[in-house]
Amino acid sequence: RVLILDFGSQYTQLIARRVRESHVYCEIHPYAMDLDAVRSYAPKGIILSGGPSSVHDADAPLAPRALFQLGIPVLGVCYGMQLMAHLLGGEVERAENREYGPALLDVVDSAALFQDIEATDVRVWMSHGDRIVHMPPGFRVLARSANSPVAAMADPARKLYGVQFHPEVAHTPCGRTLLDNFLFHICGCKPTWTMKSFVESAITAIREKVGSDRVLCALSGGVDSSVVAVLLHKAVGEQLQCIFVNNGLLRKGEAETVERVFRDHFEMPLVSINATDLFLSRLKGVTDPEQKRKIIGNLFIEIFEREASKLQGTRYLAQGTLYPDVIESVSFKGPSATIKTHHNVGGLPERMKLELIEPLRELFKDEVRQLGRELGLPERIVMRHPFPGPGLAIRILGEVTPENLRILRQADAIVLEELEAANWDNRVWQAFAVLLPVRSVGVMGDERTYEQVVAIRAVESVDAMTADWARMPYQLLARLSNRIINEVSGVNRVVYDISSKPPSTIEWE
Ligand code: XMP
Repeated sequence: RVLILDFGSQYTQLIARRVRESHVYCEIHPYAMDLDAVRSYAPKGIILSGGPSSVHDADAPLAPRALFQLGIPVLGVCYGMQLMAHLLGGEVERAENREYGPALLDVVDSAALFQDIEATDVRVWMSHGDRIVHMPPGFRVLARSANSPVAAMADPARKLYGVQFHPEVAHTPCGRTLLDNFLFHICGCKPTWTMKSFVESAITAIREKVGSDRVLCALSGGVDSSVVAVLLHKAVGEQLQCIFVNNGLLRKGEAETVERVFRDHFEMPLVSINATDLFLSRLKGVTDPEQKRKIIGNLFIEIFEREASKLQGTRYLAQGTLYPDVIESVSFKGPSATIKTHHNVGGLPERMKLELIEPLRELFKDEVRQLGRELGLPERIVMRHPFPGPGLAIRILGEVTPENLRILRQADAIVLEELEAANWDNRVWQAFAVLLPVRSVGVMGDERTYEQVVAIRAVESVDAMTADWARMPYQLLARLSNRIINEVSGVNRVVYDISSKPPSTIEWE
């Protein structure tokens, strides 16, 4: 396995994804990871990420010099390379011309790191202000660019390597080859991290942790919880009890679909609970987004704990927490600001009697989908769009009432139907309707109307960390608007959300 030390780059997660795509297991840890912890983690290689700092900043994040004396190969990327140069006796200075965006590289030494990469005019992605003017003793230049006399350097004897550009981004086409050279030729990694091997090790780990206790798994019908359920069932069989809570905030026909799919594809019993009235009564009069999320998260736990107490020996609650949620809370400078309390991550733990079991904590969404396939889940479940735990409550801006739910459900069903008919559902990460708490004037027949507004949100994304609005054809947008206004009473206007994330988010609350 490989260790990635995070110095705060926006691309750190991408490094992890690239390494995993090469079937090598890796984890991201904060740059300040203790040296003993690094030793006992015993990685085959270490990658130092980029970061926004300069090594000359008073509060620059540093690594201990001893990190380079462990005999473990190190690859420094951008700030990671500058730090390596700075700590080992080289010299880093602010470059006169900063280098942002594409650059062309000339490779002067194609041994090891640059094996199988062209020698001249190699396209790479740069993003730095500092540059190396003197390499540390023992290092030699591997590549240059117009603005970086040391665009890549190495001390092959100590297996220390540095690149000024970002091999992890798509704009560096040779990046994959370069990272593979580091992983396989320099670190001696083997491409053995596959979903098949993950299933085996996850099952062993779950069995060890659970012992003879029982596990409650809350199924939502989404990809993550479905995968968790099947994995746990493989691991602990009848010690697992799945429950499905209908919180009254689901999409049209969803409760029935989840129950049917479960019956058809899962070989385990399901306890189904209809808690619609309870959720709606607690949400009465509530308009604040965070308050809605907390009320819903807490009520879920209340129900889980009540169900757990009915089943003797239930100690664990299984959750579909994914790696991006975990990284956000451990990375660089500690927990990031709470943008939203995602109910399967932030809302739960504090006052819980049940202990959490989170077998997907190390995986990205696309890996979870692969895992689902490996476990034999049908493509319909594996490729489902994500749906938030708090459901339609965070897509109704303002108070959640039965009437607002009716309007949103109908509008949302039209969005999904039309996208599927136009074959656009599998081209977007998510698509849905949002009900706005404003009314506007319209004219229907010869009558004045004063009714609500529905916004349509459709985004493209690979991991929900960033997203862009989908450039859907006008014809499709026109059909959506026509149908919603004609078929959903109470709506006289439809708008399309053309904001990206960041600075917006995917959901409106
Ligand atoms: P945002 O709105 O933060 O959403 O850009 C990113 C992704 O997360 C989903 N989402 C949630 N998923 N519980 C969940 O399980 C939640 O509370 C929650 N809130 C947002 C959202 O649909 C998008 O895919």
